[in-house]
Amino acid sequence: MTAPIEPIRLLPGRGIDILDQTALPFAERRLLLSDISAVCEAIRELRVRGAPLLGLAGAAGMAMAAETTPATDEDLSRAAHQINATRPTATDLGRATGDALALARVAGPDAPSRREALWHNAIRMLSLRQAEDQAIGRFGAGLLPPAASVLTHCNTGALATAGIGTALGVIATAHALGRIDRCFATETRPLLQGARLTAWELTRLGIPGTLLPDTAAASLIASGIVHAVITGADRIAANGDTANKVGTYGLAAVAARHAVPFYIAAPTSTFDPACPSGAEIPIEFRSPAEVGGYAGVRWSPDGVDAYNPAFDVTPASCITAIITEHGVLRPPYHAAIADLFRQP
Ligand code: MRU
Repeated sequence: MTAPIEPIRLLPGRGIDILDQTALPFAERRLLLSDISAVCEAIRELRVRGAPLLGLAGAAGMAMAAETTPATDEDLSRAAHQINATRPTATDLGRATGDALALARVAGPDAPSRREALWHNAIRMLSLRQAEDQAIGRFGAGLLPPAASVLTHCNTGALATAGIGTALGVIATAHALGRIDRCFATETRPLLQGARLTAWELTRLGIPGTLLPDTAAASLIASGIVHAVITGADRIAANGDTANKVGTYGLAAVAARHAVPFYIAAPTSTFDPACPSGAEIPIEFRSPAEVGGYAGVRWSPDGVDAYNPAFDVTPASCITAIITEHGVLRPPYHAAIADLFRQP
């Protein structure tokens, strides 16, 4: 049996130990991050990545800030600001730092109490994420036909959540129930989260996997071979519009054109009920250098510009259902999401 994937280990008093995802699949390199600047660098460079894992890293980063500063309200607000600025799209990150700030205030001004409260919060969040993934997996697996072939984008597995994953957790759960024939995974240019990370996880899980260039996804969906497309999310607006890895919108639009179900799998922490629609979701733009080369190899001439959004927004009208840990949401999403946040 393969050892479980641990993208993050929480070490109160020392920092966080991460699996450096930029080195995968060829090296399983672990790094100890012992201050906020190291956490921010790891987030920016995608050493830790995936919306739920970003939330965990944010919560742990706040606990670390309470250890390395006098932990006044100002110190912690500054740390939250620094962490939030690394990647603007994923709701989980800002939510985690905001929750940590609120908890610190409840814990009172005493630094040791704040440290303890913030580490306890991060540790609790880790087990919560794992339980949420299991529930998402069960709800999602129930949507798939027997012997399903599915298509997924980017990486939404254990590496992205520290649990079994969201979209990939659904696929793993369905596979364990004997309901998956094959998982098609897009390579996910420019940073290759599909080719490097999802392919690695599929191999470890023993799920038959087929990698494809992003550009082959439309014709694959049109061919009728794929029974469903399932992806994760970085931020889901109040009306169901969903930001996820760039390329998701194209997959959803083509799936809609060919009447193939398109599912989003995400925990409640990824919803942003204060964001009315996709138009208000902040989209992260990354360096043109990521498009013109990879891992030190360059294939474009120096100085050429590039359009490199990390995410795009899929309109709610293209989404068949959203799978959460509380159940499956169906349109109209405005009402379904409002209900989700009314739950006790
Ligand atoms: O840029 P990344 O690799 O952090 O993008 C990740 C995604 O887009 C995932 O689909 C999303 O965060 C959900 S992870 C369960």
